[in-house]
Amino acid sequence: MAIPLLLLLLLLASSSFISAAPPTPPFSPQDNILIDCGAKSPATLPDGRSFKTEEQSTQFLKTNKDIQVSVPSADVPSPIYLTARIFTEQATYAFQLTRPGFHWVRLHFFPLKNNEFDLQQATFSVMTDKYVLLHNFKVNNNTNAILKEYLLNVTEPKFSINFIPMKNSAAFINAIEVVSAPDSLISDQGTALFPVDSFSGLSDFGYQVAYRLNMGGPLITSQNDTLGRTWIPDTDFLKDKNLARSFSVATNVVKYTDVLTPIIAPATVYSSLTKMADSKTMQPNFNVSWKFDVDTSFDYVLRMHFCDIVSKSLNDLYFNVYINGKMAISGLDLSSLTGELGVPYYKDIVVNASTMSGGLSVQIGPMNEKTGTVNAILNGLEVLKMSNSVDSLDGEFGVDGTSAGLGTKGTVAAVGFAMMFGAFVGLGAMVIKWKRRPQDWQKRNSFSAWLLPIHASDSSFMASKNSVGSHKSNFYSSTGLGRYFSFAELQEATKNFDSSAIIGVGGFGNVYLGTIDDGTKVAVKRGNPQSEQGITEFQTEIQMLSKLRHRHLVSLIGYCDENDEMILVYEYMSNGPFRDHLYGKNLQPLSWKQRLEISIGAARGLHYLHTGIAQGIIHRDVKTTNILLDDAFVAKVADFGLSKDAPMGQNHVSTAVKGSFGYLDPEYFRRQQLTDKSDVYSFGVVLLEVLCARPAINPQLPREQVSLAEWAMQWKRKGLIEKIIDPHLVGTINPESMKKFAEAAEKCLAEYGVDRPTMGDVLWNLEYALQLQEAFTQGKSEEEAKVQSATVSASPAPVAVTPISPSSDHRPVFKPEENKGPAEVQAIDDHSGTAMFAQFSGLSGR
Ligand SMILES: *[C@@H]1O[C@H](CO)[C@@H](O)[C@H](O)[C@H]1NC(C)=O
Ligand SMILES: *[C@@H]1O[C@H](CO)[C@@H](O)[C@H](O)[C@H]1NC(C)=O
Ligand SMILES: *[C@@H]1O[C@H](CO)[C@@H](O)[C@H](O)[C@H]1NC(C)=O
Ligand SMILES: *[C@@H]1O[C@H](CO)[C@@H](O)[C@H](O)[C@H]1NC(C)=O
Ligand SMILES: *[C@@H]1O[C@H](CO)[C@@H](O)[C@H](O)[C@H]1NC(C)=O
Repeated sequence: MAIPLLLLLLLLASSSFISAAPPTPPFSPQDNILIDCGAKSPATLPDGRSFKTEEQSTQFLKTNKDIQVSVPSADVPSPIYLTARIFTEQATYAFQLTRPGFHWVRLHFFPLKNNEFDLQQATFSVMTDKYVLLHNFKVNNNTNAILKEYLLNVTEPKFSINFIPMKNSAAFINAIEVVSAPDSLISDQGTALFPVDSFSGLSDFGYQVAYRLNMGGPLITSQNDTLGRTWIPDTDFLKDKNLARSFSVATNVVKYTDVLTPIIAPATVYSSLTKMADSKTMQPNFNVSWKFDVDTSFDYVLRMHFCDIVSKSLNDLYFNVYINGKMAISGLDLSSLTGELGVPYYKDIVVNASTMSGGLSVQIGPMNEKTGTVNAILNGLEVLKMSNSVDSLDGEFGVDGTSAGLGTKGTVAAVGFAMMFGAFVGLGAMVIKWKRRPQDWQKRNSFSAWLLPIHASDSSFMASKNSVGSHKSNFYSSTGLGRYFSFAELQEATKNFDSSAIIGVGGFGNVYLGTIDDGTKVAVKRGNPQSEQGITEFQTEIQMLSKLRHRHLVSLIGYCDENDEMILVYEYMSNGPFRDHLYGKNLQPLSWKQRLEISIGAARGLHYLHTGIAQGIIHRDVKTTNILLDDAFVAKVADFGLSKDAPMGQNHVSTAVKGSFGYLDPEYFRRQQLTDKSDVYSFGVVLLEVLCARPAINPQLPREQVSLAEWAMQWKRKGLIEKIIDPHLVGTINPESMKKFAEAAEKCLAEYGVDRPTMGDVLWNLEYALQLQEAFTQGKSEEEAKVQSATVSASPAPVAVTPISPSSDHRPVFKPEENKGPAEVQAIDDHSGTAMFAQFSGLSGR
């Protein structure tokens, strides 16, 4: 037994594959820019690297207003934290690079105490020319140093990093590193997790290092790493420490090859590992699991490092690797991959956000076969966040304001939008300061108060403001706003504003259905000629409105201001208000999946208003009649009629109570203070309407039932919300999905704004509810297919599912197979004798 093994080893040793560990020269980066921001003299780190002052470095800092601060004491973890530079306006560091390719970009933040600014509360964004690195970032109560580390492929010699403070806030930075990374570090090829497939194109992404772990080993600081990286121990991420054991050998046991050099990871990583705890003393079959907190809206690359330093002989260790519960590597056989023990190996696995509903988990475990040693190992793990479709690494919006939700980057709207605003988005949208509205704005019977986001702007933004009134065509063409319609054109489109074309009536004028050009239907909103609002304000507001472009906001097509008319032309939403599809109109009921999709769309629109490029817009009148559906049932938020900007820092707007009864935030009602959390409250009521299919307020009902929010929350607290859901949903709604959804509604309806989630949080809860529903439907149809093939019956095979019933908790519901024709779900109710029917076919597919 030992002899053939020895032979094998000799054979392998003589092959050229394993050359005796080649002495790799340390990597010397071509670009190695280290800046100690705000410093008066350079700082040298324990690892020997010297951070220069801004003046010493050849890089260019462009800023109008900045402040240098420093702390005298050496009471900071590193000399680079002794100083910081604070920006109250957009600032840019411009770098001249000598070599294209991947670069480390490391941003060091340490909120040092100073008399100028509370840096813990400073809120700002950081972007390069291409990538969004941080979106509305805030250190918050974190008093530790924060390192944000990126790996970006820079293709132009000029590279800049922009710091953009939020309105009335500041940005700050303590130190910046821009350092070339070796080409061999990033390979273009990886493996997609689910379904397992090869993945190419990894070099097209930007990355943020989310985690970098040295399994079973010590902390490795920048001075001990080949590329200045930091590797932290894995113990804090282990789900059950009792199931794992650490193991290490001397670093010289690690045998690098000419492909796998210490550049990939230092020997300290490969010479230690975490393995299964001694299997003899326990049930032999278990997994070692790690769990990571990640932003689940992004895709990730997991670089998994392995090195078999535990086996006594080759071909003895085989194990499985799982990511998010899915098989990532089946029967990993390091011996056959490396040919020798102690030879490092890594694998890049691309993990799609769609598999990440419960965060990121990594597991290693034995194969189920009774062969070989029962063990599994992992030596190191790097979790890299991948840039999304709009090149953002934080938040859904790209540098030019386009949203990842748009799907493709190249839509006409997005391009036009980028051209329109690119000029100053590049320099930071925050340069523009929107003034607050005059206090009496609501009293004006104004057009803007009817359907526009209310904003005034200062003249630094509107260069041609002085000439606005008299040269309107110049004004529009110079700012590239939507299409200009002549009054005659719109007269023709609406049959001279015929009353039969009216599809909506507002306090400030009517909405007409019109047909333009090739038959495109549009909604034409014509301001009441008696409106006191000036034409100048109208124009200002169109400008603001056209800034808001999002798949889930009703978009402005054009306008007409001829003869002092104030007319806006919007896309026509053929399926009308969401509410009409929930109750009162006898339309075909929407499936639960459709309701979830529509709710998600509306949440996205509101999230964009709150956090998107225009920043801090509060809708103020969120309700099911302001969520419109297009011909494909895509939800779009309409009627920013009462919108008002939320000044940053101040966090609320004092204002007279407006909005719709039944949807009003109680805090807003009491204190007359408006925040984006007021919209969240109203959205909570919308969610209940979606679930229960009844109005927010119904005065005809017994008193305790009049207010939907109060009534439904009573049932929710009793844990019996399923008793009051829309009967059409019974039998087709997954109880877990409903639970998640009702929880989201409950959180939105919290008494105090601070306790309510953000729209972004609500969004993720809804997405999760949708996933649960989809898994449920999928599971059911598989089950049905099985039953069907097993049953030779002519009639549809009934399949029991777990129902949600308004009158009894565990009532069997029988559901025929789903097919293309109309089908029914029949709930058999022994008590009432009423069978419940729900039409669901033809709805779920939309
Ligand atoms: C920071 O704030 C959060 C909640 O606001 C709290 O849970 C946490 O303990 C705080 N951390 C520190 C270090 O104060
Ligand atoms: C960086 O991107 C460019 C352009 O997409 C590509 O040609 C190049 O190969 C990339 N560099 C690396 C090191 O992957
Ligand atoms: C890191 O490097 C220093 C100096 O080279 C050395 O003294 C120390 O032992 C190293 N630490 C580890 C964990 O390798
Ligand atoms: C290990 O985890 C995977 C994925 O979660 C699971 O399918 C498998 O059954 C687990 N193995 C053991 C032995 O528990
Ligand atoms: C993740 O999945 C989505 C939807 O299937 C796809 O559009 C996206 O390209 C995937 N991401 C990666 C990195 O493959």
